Amino acid sequence: MNIARFIALAPLLLSLLFGCIENMPIRHVLVNSPSTNIRVELFSNPEGNLIYKVFHNNQLLIDESQLGFEFTDMPDLRDEMIIVDTSYQNYDGVWELPWGEKKQVVDRYRQMNVWIKELKAPGRMMNIIFRVYDDGIGFRYSFPEQANMQTASISNEITQFKLTSDPTTWWIPGDWDSYEHLYNKTRLSEINAISKRNHGNLGQTYIPENAVNTPVTMRTDKGIHVAIHEANLTDYAGMTLKVDTVGLFFQSSLVGSDNAYKVVRDLPFETPWRTIQIAEQATGLLESDLILNLNEPNSLEDVSWIKPMKYLGIWWQMHIGIYSWHNKGSDHGATTDHTKKLIDFAADNGFGGVLAEGWNTGWGERVAYEDKEGVFDFVTPSFDFDLRQVAEYGKEKGVQLIMHHETNSAPRFYEQQLDTAFSLMQSLGLHTVKSGYVGKILPKGEHHHGQWMVNHYRKVVETAAKYQVAMNVHEPIKDTGIRRTYPNMLSREGLRGQEFNAWSVEGGNPPEHIPSVVFTRMLGGPIDYTPGIFNLTLKPHRSSNRVQTTLAHQLALYVVLYSPVQMAPDLINYYEGHPAFQFVRDVAVDWEETKVLNGEVGDYVTIARKERSSDRWFIGSVTDENARTLAIDLDFLDPEVQYKMTIYTDGEAADFDVNPTDYLIDSYIVNATSGLTLTLARGGGCAIHLEPATAEDMANLRRWL
Ligand code: NOJ
Ligand code: CA
Repeated sequence: MNIARFIALAPLLLSLLFGCIENMPIRHVLVNSPSTNIRVELFSNPEGNLIYKVFHNNQLLIDESQLGFEFTDMPDLRDEMIIVDTSYQNYDGVWELPWGEKKQVVDRYRQMNVWIKELKAPGRMMNIIFRVYDDGIGFRYSFPEQANMQTASISNEITQFKLTSDPTTWWIPGDWDSYEHLYNKTRLSEINAISKRNHGNLGQTYIPENAVNTPVTMRTDKGIHVAIHEANLTDYAGMTLKVDTVGLFFQSSLVGSDNAYKVVRDLPFETPWRTIQIAEQATGLLESDLILNLNEPNSLEDVSWIKPMKYLGIWWQMHIGIYSWHNKGSDHGATTDHTKKLIDFAADNGFGGVLAEGWNTGWGERVAYEDKEGVFDFVTPSFDFDLRQVAEYGKEKGVQLIMHHETNSAPRFYEQQLDTAFSLMQSLGLHTVKSGYVGKILPKGEHHHGQWMVNHYRKVVETAAKYQVAMNVHEPIKDTGIRRTYPNMLSREGLRGQEFNAWSVEGGNPPEHIPSVVFTRMLGGPIDYTPGIFNLTLKPHRSSNRVQTTLAHQLALYVVLYSPVQMAPDLINYYEGHPAFQFVRDVAVDWEETKVLNGEVGDYVTIARKERSSDRWFIGSVTDENARTLAIDLDFLDPEVQYKMTIYTDGEAADFDVNPTDYLIDSYIVNATSGLTLTLARGGGCAIHLEPATAEDMANLRRWL
């Protein structure tokens, strides 16, 4: 959209219209999606409040919801506003992801630009841009340059989302520092996020009362699925949603700091897009490209160095207590020899990288919160880790050392070191780093998800790109689709990952965690969950924790959870010689297309993905604590091709609780007319590899009946 033209024309239009504003009727404007299944209406009521509504198939879905702002240093912008003019645009295009769940993305919408003017003094101007797709809507506020307002010091954004019923809602608390929570399933009216200051394993986080983080997913009583999130979160605070359990609406509640403002911006500027994804089936939410479409195109010229891969790590060993990050005793994990051993295993099994956490100095230092800047150094290796030798050894074997930058939530200090840290990586030919933000943010008063940190995370991604470094961020800002603009933003955590299964005091992630995450957190983008634990009981390493899934479920996660970097985290002795490890070796990480075959939020999901530039397909299916049977058709396969199917299923006695490692592997010939019945155990799953059959396969394998 041509914002410059939009902004430039506004004063002219206003001056033309000014004479008739006083007697002007309340304007009611609307825009339909390309296939007219979604309609947005906007009007200003007699008080001059700006109100929007959303219809789905002509049924009201989002009822009268207000739009506006409160500021620290000027009157609110929420009443006595009129709609001055509108303009409309259509767009219908296709663009390509350099890596992703699919290659081609269709971008097709109708856009309505609405010029708004405040009737009373100081007569400020604001525009709202609505983009309406067949799979949902995005809208953003745009503040044009104007004489009566140079800076917006926003104390509150008033964006409401009023539901027409009391939908079933899957939510995590609106924590200002962490998304590492289990999903709750309640009615909207029953959301009861409890205000806390100290939470969980990450230590100091701040949770305000009755707010949720996004993406938040709902199912109405009519069975319509709705997810609210944001796209292109740039130079702004993350949006949580405060729930009004009586009025049944959400209202944006921006993440703050110790400052009076939540966001401060010089005009002109635009807010992130506020998004509402709408689908009749839960699976439709996963097929939506709305978030990516609402981001700006790729800003990096050469992206050939950004490579999806599977990787191993010196990581789980620390989480289950076998090794340590620090080098103070005899159990330091990231030593030269240990890392070289993993590089050998990675090379033998076709993995692209090895992560070595604890390679640098600073681990194990105990300093006060105020003194933590200066502790972690991203250029000085531990005495027992020969960085150059390890990087060189990896290069010889075709395996990249993945660097680790645990900032310890001292972002100012990290920013000072970005250039030296990334140029060291560049000089060693290393293109991938995992970063982390454990603990309470210093500077004091800032939170992980506020405007200051949003800008920090972005600065890191932009600086990394200059040195050809791609990022996998833990304790990140949530994903709002910026990987489209910065394809070096590979993956991120931003959820309760596998690590909670190693040490969480209240037990690990229950089986329903993944089917909840898929339809909520994953709407934002790639997830570094670290699937693939084979020693599910964690014996003899941990007595009070375990992984609450079956083995086949762990395999399925490589397909179900999308990430261009997927770890095989378990100890290599649990993989060596294990027949099911063949699936981890085989599974692809970069996809031509994705089909969501079935699924219900929090219950189960089955996803099929086709590898880029190959004829191979993979299918992953997972269930919650209920066993179930799922029928799927393979009609997406090439009708001309016969396929060898290798299927990894739960064994007859499999059960996440009592027998998680019971599994079966079988091979058959299938084609596009085949139908499968997947039998999933409690907490179970199924993983399938499909490849064109050879003459030998055709001669030796049974046809699936
Ligand atoms: C938390 C991260 O999520 C985890 O992956 C990492 O190992 C630790 N921080 C240490 O950096
Ligand atoms: Ca974490």
